[in-house]
Amino acid sequence: MNDVVYLNGDFIAKDKAKISVLDRGFLFADGIYEVIPVYNSQPFRLPQHLARLQYCLEQINLTNPNSDSQWQELISRIIARNGGGNLSIYVQITRGCSQDRNPLNEAETAPTVLIMPSGLLVNEQQITTTTATLLKDIRWQHCDIKSIALLANILLRNQAEQHGFGEAILHRDGVITEGSSSNVFMVKNHEVYTPMQNNFILGGVTREVIIEIAQAKQLKVHQQDISVEQLLNADEVWICSSSREISPVTAIDDKMIANGDIGAVTLLLHHEFQTFKKKLIS
Ligand code: PDD
Repeated sequence: MNDVVYLNGDFIAKDKAKISVLDRGFLFADGIYEVIPVYNSQPFRLPQHLARLQYCLEQINLTNPNSDSQWQELISRIIARNGGGNLSIYVQITRGCSQDRNPLNEAETAPTVLIMPSGLLVNEQQITTTTATLLKDIRWQHCDIKSIALLANILLRNQAEQHGFGEAILHRDGVITEGSSSNVFMVKNHEVYTPMQNNFILGGVTREVIIEIAQAKQLKVHQQDISVEQLLNADEVWICSSSREISPVTAIDDKMIANGDIGAVTLLLHHEFQTFKKKLIS
């Protein structure tokens, strides 16, 4: 449990890493984050994760503290210092420390930069199914920014878990957005559907990989609005993220999807995803 983290230039034990109470991330959630899966010591889709990091920093008017090659180097060192293998790498950048607790004063110091590893569940052998509940998307209007302000996501996820569901699938006025920490896909008549990328969803890196591999398998992929009704009547539904990969949704509230079985398209894409991953990291 004594992982090594990177904090503002130092490599130190996780339990020794400390930030100031004046850090704007701590006081105002004034920062962004990224989660990068690492398989067999190799970061998966690192350029895409770094591009999203850059996008999010631009959206909140923060200068990227590192070039892509510096990030690559720091992440490689964290992987090596933590024994390699399969890991999840968490990167957080906040606007640094305020002089006092004034939300409108921008930080006068450098940003706070944290790189922290944790364990990663790998679904190579088996596919992990889940269940979901439909909840109203109560988040803000910039869900394309991977903001560290996750209170709404946490409340939604907790609500789902309290009722025995593995994820909350969210909707705005009856139109599906995404999961509390995942993107959503469905299949109808052998065609794949996922909500289009806009300010209401995070542009998931796993989502992007799935679209690529589905298209490579000649599947038709529609990025468009999905209504609650369409989702409930889908032949197959899955959620996806860097930490859960492809996770079939066997039921939404009291409605079974595909009799609770894992659908053929889901299985095919799961298999292709594992093959794609292995190719990149071998
Ligand atoms: N969550 N949508 C939301 C709201 C998310 O939090 C995530 C990821 C995704 C999927 O993005 P990606 O495929 O790039 O992981 C979509 C990460 C894993 C997390 O917060 O831990």
